[in-house]
Amino acid sequence: LRVAVVFGGRSDEHDVSCGSAASVLAHLDRRRYDVVPVKIEPDGTWIVGKDDPDLFTAADQRARPFLTDDFARVHGSEEQALSGIPRALEQIQDADVLFPALHGPYGEDGTLQAMLDMCGIPFVGNGVLASAVGMDKEYAKKLLAAAGLAVADGVVLRDDRDALSTAEKERLGLPVYVKPARSGSSVGVSRVDAWEALPTAIAAAKRSDRKVLVEAALTGREIDVGVLERPDGSVEVSPPLEIRLAPHQRLFDHEAKYTDSGTTFEVPARLDPQTTEHLRVLSLRAFAALECSGLLRVDFFVDDDGTATVNEVNTFPGFTSSSQYPRMWQAVGLEYAELLDTLIETALQ
Ligand code: DAL
Ligand code: MG
Repeated sequence: LRVAVVFGGRSDEHDVSCGSAASVLAHLDRRRYDVVPVKIEPDGTWIVGKDDPDLFTAADQRARPFLTDDFARVHGSEEQALSGIPRALEQIQDADVLFPALHGPYGEDGTLQAMLDMCGIPFVGNGVLASAVGMDKEYAKKLLAAAGLAVADGVVLRDDRDALSTAEKERLGLPVYVKPARSGSSVGVSRVDAWEALPTAIAAAKRSDRKVLVEAALTGREIDVGVLERPDGSVEVSPPLEIRLAPHQRLFDHEAKYTDSGTTFEVPARLDPQTTEHLRVLSLRAFAALECSGLLRVDFFVDDDGTATVNEVNTFPGFTSSSQYPRMWQAVGLEYAELLDTLIETALQ
């Protein structure tokens, strides 16, 4: 099978995607797959590269995003570097399946998926609707709430609006979390403990997206759950994973996610069986509510009494070999390479 792995991209999560892709490219079984790496530069240029398992393995082992320099060694000629979208598509249109290892807008948000549908290229993971809704925290919350899932109370600031009313401040209370509506990896996210700090936080979020969410704080433990579709169409749920911040960390922010190693993951999370079962049911409901396919990571906050609130969903969660989603499946014996096989087989059904 010929698999084109597309990564990088135009979003704020470009480097994170390169890290995810390094692991994907390192683990695809070369006895089963002909692999074509395709990098999208931050400016939107597409480059079709050559396969180099050793390079990707080295990048994966460094456990950090592999950067442009590395990829420059992968792709060959100047001509390839200038390939752009039409030429890249020409070169990969005979791929049996495309693996979008992309996070954020222009990759995880349905835009790429729509183009692939138009071109008739099968792809791994979520389709147009689930990707578009999953990327937009305002609409994801609306659909999840309509399906009976609890989500954080919040205010959406669209267009030029950049402040809360007094009534809204009273309703949400402090602290609040300020987030770009369509971003990921906590880029542009801040926790606000005093209203004086709100304008700066909103301005920071607006640098990533014109639409910004100001959300009431969720309490409890931070628990992620993975959902995986099997080739026969059945849907499985992983054991829950708890994110444990180091004492000096105030939130699971970009630094905690990608540079600071103080955060630990515990799989399965130590929860009572009823809470674990409750999370399983809620995760399946979230997957169905967004009409997902292939995979989903649902991120919850869980209170001591078992109340679970969805913080957000990720239609293509972080995929380095140490990221939560692959780790949750490893905990039940599904190794990273087998997880890739499952995603690809499902995409081809
Ligand atoms: N958006 C990042 C990659 C995640 O949620 O894992
Ligand atoms: Mg996210």
